[in-house]
Order: sequence, then C-alpha cells, then structure tokens
Amino acid sequence: MPEADERDDKNFHEDTPAADHGFFLKGSGQYDWGMKNRLARIFRPETGRTVMLAFDHGYFQGPTTGLERVDLNIVPLAPHADALMLTRGILRSSIPATHRGGIVMRASGGPSILKDLSHERIALDMEDAVRMNVHGVAVQVFVGGEHETESVENMTKLVDAGYRYGIPVLGVTAVGRELTRDARYLGLATRICAELGAQVVKTYYCDEGFERVTAGCPVPIVMAGGKKLPEADALEMAYRAVQQGAAGVDMGRNIFQSESPAAMIRAVAAVVHEDMRPEQAYELYRELAQETVPA
Ligand code: R5P
Repeated sequence: MPEADERDDKNFHEDTPAADHGFFLKGSGQYDWGMKNRLARIFRPETGRTVMLAFDHGYFQGPTTGLERVDLNIVPLAPHADALMLTRGILRSSIPATHRGGIVMRASGGPSILKDLSHERIALDMEDAVRMNVHGVAVQVFVGGEHETESVENMTKLVDAGYRYGIPVLGVTAVGRELTRDARYLGLATRICAELGAQVVKTYYCDEGFERVTAGCPVPIVMAGGKKLPEADALEMAYRAVQQGAAGVDMGRNIFQSESPAAMIRAVAAVVHEDMRPEQAYELYRELAQETVPA
C-alpha cells in the first residue's frame, strides 16, 4: 500500500487561475467533453476547419465512378483528409483499423437511385457506432421532399441517441431535383437541422448569399462538393465557401473523380486550412499532379 503523502511544500499555484478551455467551434461550447473531443477529431482545432472526404455514395448508387475499389482508390487519400465520411460496410471491409483520422459514419439509408431517395430510415444503431469508435454520424434531411417529416425524425432520433454516447450528428441537407439551391432554401434547410439538434450541417454552396446561410446557422456548416467540376472551379467554390463562413468542406466526386485525386485533396486542404487563393491552389494541384503521374 502506498504511504500517505504528508509533505507540506506542495505547490498549488494559488495565484494562477485554473485554465478555462474554451472550445473552438461555433455553437459547440456547451457540449460534454466526449462530444467536443469527437468534434476535435473531425475539425482541426488549429484552423477550426475540416477537409472531410465523402465516399458514402455506394449506399444508394452502388459502385460510383472513382469508388470501384475503395481499397485502391480511397485508402491512399485517407492520410490527407481530416475525416472520412463512409458507410459501416466500407469501414469494416476496406479501411485499415490503424487509421487515426476522424470517421463520420453514414447512418441513414434505404432507397436506391431507382426509388424516391427521400424515403430513408435510420440505418445504423448508435451502439454499433460506438463499437466502431466513430466521431460522428451523418443523416440525410430532405426539407421540402416527399418524406420531409420522416427524414427530420430520423435526424432527431439520431441526435437523441448521439447525446447518450457523446456522438455528434451531421445533418446533410439533400436537395431534390425539384428544389432550388438558393440561399433562401439552403438557409431554411440548414437552420432546421441546427434547430432540431444537428451539431454540424452539410449543405451545398450557392453563388448568391452563402454568407447569410452560414451566418444564420448557429453550428458549423461544411460545404458539400456536388457533381464533378473542373478542378479550378471546384477549388474556387471551396475557397469562396470557407471565406464566406463554412467550417470546411465535405467533398467526394470533386476529389475522387479528379484526374489526380491525391493532388486534388492536398490542394483543397491548402484552400481550407491555409486560406490559399484558388489560382495558387490550382497551380499547386498541377504541380502535385505532375509529381504523381505514373512512370
Ligand atoms: C449525399 O447524398 C452523400 O453524403 C454523398 O455521398 C456525398 O454528400 C456526396 O459528396 P459529393 O457530392 O461531394 O460527391
């Protein structure tokens, strides 16, 4: 048994106030430690932003171009991403358990591209999310869609379950073909997600008024990539989004369908974390792409 410590010269630094660890993310200062710690695995504390690599597309559209072989196409990119957004099937089958970056797990699903995509259900038990040690779960919210209410309920149920374990929820605003991606709609959808408990919201960029969308959302917004654009345009869009208040990006096709995915994710990271201007980032992309051209 250890002896009692009876020394009288202990130093309690009575004149130094205890450190008050504020939290770097918008709207997140009052969460519990576990949730903050997980958010700090998704967002870099030094910049308050994230480069999330989304490759969960297979959950409704099968082997999307660029994702035919996740082990070959995506695993080499993983060290350049702050977080990976994926399904549990891909995590367990294809991602090495030695991966140390953030994991955001797709938690809704059901319909394929052959059906009405808004008809989703919760597709992941929070206990399994804990078992896989994930840092967040993602759910699609179809504001204005056929199954709007059910999709919102999916999200609120995940938020309740997430609070039990300290796992944040990423509300993904899905824009149906019939809905306009303008600031009014995106402001409505993102605010609904945040009001009903999502700790992070993912939404598309819009050319007009995106800064109003981010300002009106009390929690961090990450920009969705959308369909493949020329690399210079995708870098420009990412730059504008972060300069207009996004806490980073969650991009898929614009990275893994690029001519040089490794160069692209590094150029996106320079835009997000170093505020690199898009023209310069495109130059960086071209240089890195040259370096990685197979002999
Ligand atoms: C939304 O439906 C899913 O999360 C997508 O897999 C993801 O958002 C798509 O990323 P991107 O549009 O950048 O390819």
